[in-house]
Amino acid sequence: MLAVGTAVIGSLQFGYNTGVINAPQKIIEAFYNETWIDRHKENIPKTTITTLWSLSVAIFSVGGIIGSFSVGLFVNRFGRKNSMLMANVLAFIAAALMGFSKMAASWEMLIIGRFVVGLYSGLSTGFVPMYVGEVAPTALRGALGTLHQLGIVIGILMAQIFGMDAIMGNATMWPFLLGFTFIPALVQCCLLPLCPESPRFLLINRNEENKAKTVLKKLRGTTDVSADMQEMKEESRQMMREKKVTIPELFRSPLYRQPIVIAIMLQLSQQLSGINAVFYYSTKIFEKAGVQQPVYATIGAGVVNTAFTVVSEKYDWMSYMSIVAIFAFVAFFEIGPGPIPWFIVAELFSQGPRPSAFAVAGFSNWTANFIVGMCFQYVEELCGAYVFIIFTVFLLCFFIFTYFKVPETKGRTFDEISAGFRQAASGAEKHSPEELNSLGADSQL
Ligand SMILES: *[C@@H]1O[C@H](CO)[C@@H](O)[C@H](O)[C@H]1NC(C)=O
Repeated sequence: MLAVGTAVIGSLQFGYNTGVINAPQKIIEAFYNETWIDRHKENIPKTTITTLWSLSVAIFSVGGIIGSFSVGLFVNRFGRKNSMLMANVLAFIAAALMGFSKMAASWEMLIIGRFVVGLYSGLSTGFVPMYVGEVAPTALRGALGTLHQLGIVIGILMAQIFGMDAIMGNATMWPFLLGFTFIPALVQCCLLPLCPESPRFLLINRNEENKAKTVLKKLRGTTDVSADMQEMKEESRQMMREKKVTIPELFRSPLYRQPIVIAIMLQLSQQLSGINAVFYYSTKIFEKAGVQQPVYATIGAGVVNTAFTVVSEKYDWMSYMSIVAIFAFVAFFEIGPGPIPWFIVAELFSQGPRPSAFAVAGFSNWTANFIVGMCFQYVEELCGAYVFIIFTVFLLCFFIFTYFKVPETKGRTFDEISAGFRQAASGAEKHSPEELNSLGADSQL
């Protein structure tokens, strides 16, 4: 519990920093405006404020892209626990940059801080599920894995609550709202030294069997950990057997091409559903929709209803409808496009290509996240509330794609799933038996 609880502070941080710029948008924009007036002796042009704010929101995802790509550099060299510990340096730097940006009258500091906390988040979203998966007992792995998702959602909610005018979402307190990320980082730094290193890292990466055993005994509370040790050794042997597949190979081999296209499309569908348009900008959208207390609506739902904003200026009840619709939107998101794109990567790829597939999936996810965060306000200025029709069209396309192209994975062995792809690929090109082997290797144990 201590190990998992400490790790998911990282998920909480990711969620918090996703949601934190939503409620105080107007207040921080006013700060940008003031700073601009101080420096240039004129009001900030409307387009400039849109650009600066969009950048402040979206540069988080640029950090995320780089962070998620760097996960592999850290975890295998320094270990899972030390990687998480080191990443907190980024959280401290980011908290300082954002927290002191007002005092220094510098929006540049805020934007750089958002980038750094994005780096931290990109790393975290790689570290946490890995560490949790590796310390959790097999029987609880699934249940504990969802704590990562839960941590993110709670983080978003916390940020929305703290962003209320009465708490920290006001002109004097907003630097504390952004700098708050310092506190979870500090807590994690105090708790991590008490947590064990991942036994899988100790055994497979470091080949320190005795240390791994000691850690496992402590984690499981029993002296007989032979089953766990056996499982990890089995996995290690399988890793040796399977050749690592590089990212270009994923796209070149006709055998992997279809699964990787599916993985990418599902990641895009998660982001282009518009969920982050809502997590980033819902307070402003609600305000335009005529909701009296936009921050409360943001807290209650986390998200805004899309289509209703078109007509809501005319009808009062429509603004309430928008709140109801948001609940439905978020609920359905968390059932489907939220978690499933990540499961599917693990289910479509065996050990050999899996790390590369995860890197490509992470890159697609953060890139689409960036595009939505950066472009939303511009497109919204262009076509008003109809901007959400674009998301609807995207979702329709992804629906059709999923219906026709994504295989069912439930209750099917890895071999059966890959056999389907093999059939599809065999029409295109001949491939080596080695490739076929690695795609089906999971079930051949
Ligand atoms: C910037 O501040 C000035 C003075 O308070 C105000 O008149 C102007 O509307 C503000 N501009 C924006 C884009 O908020």
